[in-house]
Amino acid sequence: MKTQYLTTSDEDLKIAAEIIKSGGLVAFPTETVYGLGGNALSAFASKAIYEAKGRPSDNPLIVHISCTEEVDDIAMRFPDNARKLAEALWPGPMTLVLPKFDVVPDATTGGLDTVAIRCPLNETARKLIKYAGVPIAAPSANTSGRPSPTKWEHVKHDLDGKIDAIIMGEPCIGGIESTVIDMTEELPMILRPGLITPEIVTKILGLPCDYDPAIKEGPSDSEGKLVPRAPGMKYKHYAPKAQMNLYSGSFENVKKAINEEAEKLKQEGANVVTIIYEDAETAARNLFADLRNADDGGADIILASALPSGESLNYSVMNRMLKSAGYNVIEV
Ligand code: TXA
Ligand code: MG
Repeated sequence: MKTQYLTTSDEDLKIAAEIIKSGGLVAFPTETVYGLGGNALSAFASKAIYEAKGRPSDNPLIVHISCTEEVDDIAMRFPDNARKLAEALWPGPMTLVLPKFDVVPDATTGGLDTVAIRCPLNETARKLIKYAGVPIAAPSANTSGRPSPTKWEHVKHDLDGKIDAIIMGEPCIGGIESTVIDMTEELPMILRPGLITPEIVTKILGLPCDYDPAIKEGPSDSEGKLVPRAPGMKYKHYAPKAQMNLYSGSFENVKKAINEEAEKLKQEGANVVTIIYEDAETAARNLFADLRNADDGGADIILASALPSGESLNYSVMNRMLKSAGYNVIEV
């Protein structure tokens, strides 16, 4: 298949919307990562998404809407607390898990009776959904297991020739995927950490907000571990091709240890990439692109600084970094 490259002009977005309406797949920008979109109400389109990504079909897709009112078309219940979060944080990097209506096919929700819904901040994304006239199911637009795409060029690298179109939008400002919050029970629960932290949720609702206990564990699928409620959280993710070591400790010690180790490895002839972030926002925005760059440059090994624990945003980024590094942490 020949992939079309489209701009963010209204004219091009209407072409993209027609592709979605007729069952095709279009990659589009959001404020978190690029999404691979198809008609969320079509089992055919959802199956095509899984196929293009090489994604296991028990891993449900997020359904994107253009405004909060559209929740009522796809969710059977929209509890008051979920509504409050939507009012405060949409459009934005938050996904709400709610009981689904039958109109959303099992192929979209991986057979679950709930649906994950998000109204993205990115204007191009919302226009596309509006023009398509249907909610758009979209996982991150990467080959399954690879770092999520934060630029359209990343999508091209992974999916050129496998999907109908790619919208050449702006680089993503957030850089890590949305916070997934289960709102089907009395208390909110974070199934996937992101830029919206438990503190923000608690401030809005006046209720405690915990992480799914299973995501606090280390490497997932080993014996006796808890099973995450977001099926996607159990998979290996974000893996660069190079080996990756994370250095944890005070910023000064980490910097010193990374630079010394890099020098040593370079002398041994290795292609070494070092990644040192000073804060969580910068880390979130750059992590996936930096991992892809390291791969493109043929890195043998990536030496990266861990973010200090304590802050929720650091935790959200570290959730990705630990997976990228295969939980390979060196304390210094
Ligand atoms: O920021 C984002 O959320 C991006 C952009 C494109 O919007 N999308 C994204 O989708 O990251 P994806 O498919 O890569 O991740 C969806 C996550 C997975 O961990 C999945 O298991 C979980 O959401 N999920 C989806 N539907 C669910 C449901 N009904 N119940 C529990 N978890 C669900
Ligand atoms: Mg993903």
